[in-house]
Amino acid sequence: MKRIAVLASGRGSNFEAIARAVKSGKIPANLPVLITDNRNAKAIERAEKLGINWIFVDPTSFPDRETYDAKIVAILKHLNVDLVCLAGYRKIVTSVFIKAFPMKILNIHPALLPSFPGLKAQEKAIRYGVKVSGATVHFVDEGVDTGPIVIQAVVPVSPEDTPETLSEKILSFEHRIYPQAIKWFVEGRIKVNGRNVIVENADYSKLPAVPALEDF
Ligand code: GRF
Repeated sequence: MKRIAVLASGRGSNFEAIARAVKSGKIPANLPVLITDNRNAKAIERAEKLGINWIFVDPTSFPDRETYDAKIVAILKHLNVDLVCLAGYRKIVTSVFIKAFPMKILNIHPALLPSFPGLKAQEKAIRYGVKVSGATVHFVDEGVDTGPIVIQAVVPVSPEDTPETLSEKILSFEHRIYPQAIKWFVEGRIKVNGRNVIVENADYSKLPAVPALEDF
């Protein structure tokens, strides 16, 4: 079975969704470790409750981001990890990390990329006035939220939405599409051709519904 690791810096709700999908057997993989750069991450409590090993790697003990990433890579290689899942991991990963795991690092972003990359994506979507937003699981390349897209979920934005309510709606889909993307990866069904990701035997006919239109 393939071995996956999750890197998280905060709340860890995506980590928990992934861990539960592994425990229930929906994702046929092992999850040997959660790695965090934040000793106070709520993700650590979740790992303890779920009985998953966690490792805190303190960024202040390293001179720069590259040496920090080299340490993380060494841990992941030692554990024979095949896939790295960033889930609310607040550090931008350097080329040291990306070269060690080419097309083997996934991230989840709370917007429909390429719209609203970077921080505060939900707030940016509301300010811009978009009518739909959503979540994106993508491979990590050297840019910020620019790698090939694996799966997206569309979430309608209503006039009453605040960044908080929209975040909540998007999050419930994050918890579904991230485990789904990981399952596809560990089953070896993902083929990457430049920017295009093709999932073998995925049902591409179930496209997101259009908004409820009035007589058109
Ligand atoms: C999620 O919204 C994710 O899309 C973004 O950071 C948030 C992490 O939430 N990258 P959690 O720590 O998984 O609860």
